[in-house]
Amino acid sequence: MKAQAVLAFFFTLIPSLCGPQDASFSHVSMNEQIVTGRLGEDVILPCSFESGPNVVIHWKNQDTNVYSYYRDSDQLEKQDPRYVNRISLFHGEIHNGNASLSFRRLTLQDEGIYICYVGTSLGKITKKIVLKVGAFVTPVMKYEKNTTNSFLICNVLSVFPYPIITWKVDNNTSISENNGKEVGSLGPFHINSRVNITGSNSSYQCEIENPLLKQTWTGRWTRKDVLHKMQSENVLLSCKPENSFFPPNQDFTVTWYRVESGSALLLAYFKNSSQETLINQPRLSWKEELINSRDFSLTVKDLHLSDSGEYLCDISSNESTLLTSQTVHVEASPRAPAGIIVPVLVAVVSAVLLLSVAPRAVRSRRCIGFHRERHPPTNQDSSSAGTTEENVALSDYLPNTGTEDRS
Ligand SMILES: *[C@@H]1O[C@H](CO)[C@@H](O)[C@H](O)[C@H]1NC(C)=O
Ligand SMILES: *[C@@H]1O[C@H](CO)[C@@H](O)[C@H](O)[C@H]1NC(C)=O
Ligand SMILES: *[C@@H]1O[C@H](CO)[C@@H](O)[C@H](O)[C@H]1NC(C)=O
Ligand SMILES: *[C@@H]1O[C@H](CO)[C@@H](O)[C@H](O)[C@H]1NC(C)=O
Ligand SMILES: *[C@@H]1O[C@H](CO)[C@@H](O)[C@H](O)[C@H]1NC(C)=O
Ligand SMILES: *[C@@H]1O[C@H](CO)[C@@H](O)[C@H](O)[C@H]1NC(C)=O
Ligand SMILES: *[C@@H]1O[C@H](CO)[C@@H](O)[C@H](O)[C@H]1NC(C)=O
Ligand SMILES: *[C@@H]1O[C@H](CO)[C@@H](O)[C@H](O)[C@H]1NC(C)=O
Repeated sequence: MKAQAVLAFFFTLIPSLCGPQDASFSHVSMNEQIVTGRLGEDVILPCSFESGPNVVIHWKNQDTNVYSYYRDSDQLEKQDPRYVNRISLFHGEIHNGNASLSFRRLTLQDEGIYICYVGTSLGKITKKIVLKVGAFVTPVMKYEKNTTNSFLICNVLSVFPYPIITWKVDNNTSISENNGKEVGSLGPFHINSRVNITGSNSSYQCEIENPLLKQTWTGRWTRKDVLHKMQSENVLLSCKPENSFFPPNQDFTVTWYRVESGSALLLAYFKNSSQETLINQPRLSWKEELINSRDFSLTVKDLHLSDSGEYLCDISSNESTLLTSQTVHVEASPRAPAGIIVPVLVAVVSAVLLLSVAPRAVRSRRCIGFHRERHPPTNQDSSSAGTTEENVALSDYLPNTGTEDRS
């Protein structure tokens, strides 16, 4: 404010040197100030004056009466209904020359030019405040697939003004965001921006910027190499945030899913602020103690054939989401005694043949039963021969969380 005042003073002294005043100059006048608030939150429109007796204060927006004060009290008979109970002066501060307006629960319609007029026995002043209102609910990045395609979706529930959305593939190439779907023509906007994942590209990034609030959120998806494992081995599913992506001292959550066509099953969860953890399956464990850790890799012990599939780690803060996708292929152990494995293999093959023609819903139910009852004994010690519980696939542990169907 001070700099602007000095600048304005400087320019009025030397108008002949500057030639005709341009639009930006007349915009930045000594009495104008831009205030940016957030939708639903509170803001103060500042206005100060040299204190004196017989204070009269009027706040107006165009010709609308926002607030009036004189004879030492509020005069609100003519106040426009949309400001009722959302606006007040700091009464205790008026005698100190403070006519600032406290504005509560901002709406987008509150944007505009507000004029503060103050008169006292000593003189009068006029101040102009431009109020801008922005919204930016933290976006989310989702990974979904159906039987033929995989997608990434960057979703913002409420943003204003319309944000700048950029997608990049493999750090570098920009891809156009012609899939952005907006809801709400005047705002705030609800945006679902979606891209197809094509086979050879291993990382995608979407950036959503609100230029008014000077806030940027980034979503990033990367794919790790496919892991091949034998049945009853252990596997480490990797999930480590890159430092550049993950500034320290930020609150975040880590969520592991198993991704299937049309659904995602929650496997494990960690919240940094509360240190709350959740593991939904006895064969899963975090790689290390999570407190102060930066490695959220997950170990799956004693792999079953049905553990084959795609796993997704989601690290989210209010500034970013980092998704790491990892596919595991579990192969039947060749070391199992032939006398056991042959009849079991025959059963597996015939069951697979049979089930591949059955409807999908029925198939997944029968698979559960199959692995529970006829899972081949492992070649390890008797304890890993397994209880019924241990032979259940990870995906059977939880009902569908339905996270993919919200959009
Ligand atoms: C007026 O008073 C309020 C409440 O103390 C304060 O937040 C605000 O900054 C003051 N404004 C000016 C212009 O002094
Ligand atoms: C998968 O999604 C794409 C894009 O929405 C769609 O074109 C395709 O038909 C879907 N495939 C199946 C099998 O649902
Ligand atoms: C992309 O950038 C990240 C860090 O920003 C880096 O770890 C990764 O190797 C880069 N990938 C490519 C393909 O350049
Ligand atoms: C990034 O893009 C530039 C030019 O667009 C290209 O020369 C360079 O090879 C690209 N780098 C990567 C890692 O794709
Ligand atoms: C993704 O690709 C499929 C074909 O591979 C196409 O039918 C679909 O429209 C694409 N979806 C998007 C959102 O680009
Ligand atoms: C994925 O990579 C292939 C070649 O590696 C490239 O031709 C294609 O344009 C990339 N897909 C996207 C969406 O950029
Ligand atoms: C996680 O939370 C702990 C305590 O709540 C904090 O000390 C630590 O800085 C946080 N870690 C990160 C990476 O922000
Ligand atoms: C994000 O969260 C941190 C605390 O975890 C907070 O200081 C910061 O203001 C938040 N940023 C936004 C954009 O909400």
